[in-house]
Amino acid sequence: MNSRIRRALLFMPGDSRKKIEKGASLGVDSIIMDLEDAIAFSGKEAARQCTLQALREVDFGRSERLVRLNQVIPGWLYADDLAATIDGQPDGYVLPKVEDPAQVQHVADLLAEAEDARGWPHESIRLLAIIETGKGVVNLREIVTSHPRLDALIFGAEDLAGDIGAQRTRAGWEVFYARSAVVTYAKAFGLQAIDTVFVDLTAPDEALIEETQLILNMGYTGKLAIHPRQVGPIQQVFTPRIDEVRAARQLIAAHEAHQDSGLGVFEYQGKMVDMPMIRSALILLARARACGLDVDAL
Ligand code: COA
Ligand code: MG
Repeated sequence: MNSRIRRALLFMPGDSRKKIEKGASLGVDSIIMDLEDAIAFSGKEAARQCTLQALREVDFGRSERLVRLNQVIPGWLYADDLAATIDGQPDGYVLPKVEDPAQVQHVADLLAEAEDARGWPHESIRLLAIIETGKGVVNLREIVTSHPRLDALIFGAEDLAGDIGAQRTRAGWEVFYARSAVVTYAKAFGLQAIDTVFVDLTAPDEALIEETQLILNMGYTGKLAIHPRQVGPIQQVFTPRIDEVRAARQLIAAHEAHQDSGLGVFEYQGKMVDMPMIRSALILLARARACGLDVDAL
């Protein structure tokens, strides 16, 4: 698994050079140029060519360059999507509606051939799988271990609701099982977990921040974005605050002092502390380091 940080992943239609250039200028962790649902069937070839040119010509800075293919179904559009964009050497591909490990393995094989033919490092092109159908949720156990190229599971609430006949609500209880399952399976097998899009572009930033905080608390490591305005709030929620880093360091120091005197569990600021809290503190410090914070200097 590759440990590149992916806090916000901004989607844009792969046929919009303007949006791709705008996205590339925002300092977002990952950019996803879409060839699937944001592109009409009549526009697929133009979108592939636009995405290829953008991969070749646009300066993406530190942003990861991802392309979303159409669903991997025999004889479907994904093969042409991949063949048309691979020479732009994207950092990875996002696979929609993954329901079966064979879909991931098949694309991984195509990428291995492409890397070999071009002399690129083995498994350098990464895969992220969207879980957004009932079958995808039911087959999570097989999908998470499908291939070492897989870095992340992405939870897609809108398509899932359509697939299982649920009605989307702001609170999201209708997709809560699937949302929990995706993060649990991802984390059990060392993958990143990325939450669904927040589609209400008229909602105040506070609503997006609240939802992002909720899914961070569930263990998610990132969230999809669909508008430049969403990038800052999402990346900020996923970046540990200085006071949180300091508190984690102090807790770990207190734990080490108690270990030295032979105590595994102790009371700290009115709460019982033992290994689970120490692990959470270590995870927070790892996240802070991945965000570029100089943890030891804070
Ligand atoms: N990525 C990059 N730039 C974007 C963007 C995105 N996802 N969404 C909007 N922008 C740009 C616009 O081009 C505009 O740029 P400008 O100020 O230089 O003219 C600016 O941000 C403001 O955009 P706004 O007018 O508020 O939105 P819009 O009406 O142009 O677009 C959407 C609205 C929903 C169509 C657009 O946000 C979008 O395409 N989102 C992504 C859709 C997608 O990829 N879906 C598939 C996965 S769910
Ligand atoms: Mg979709």
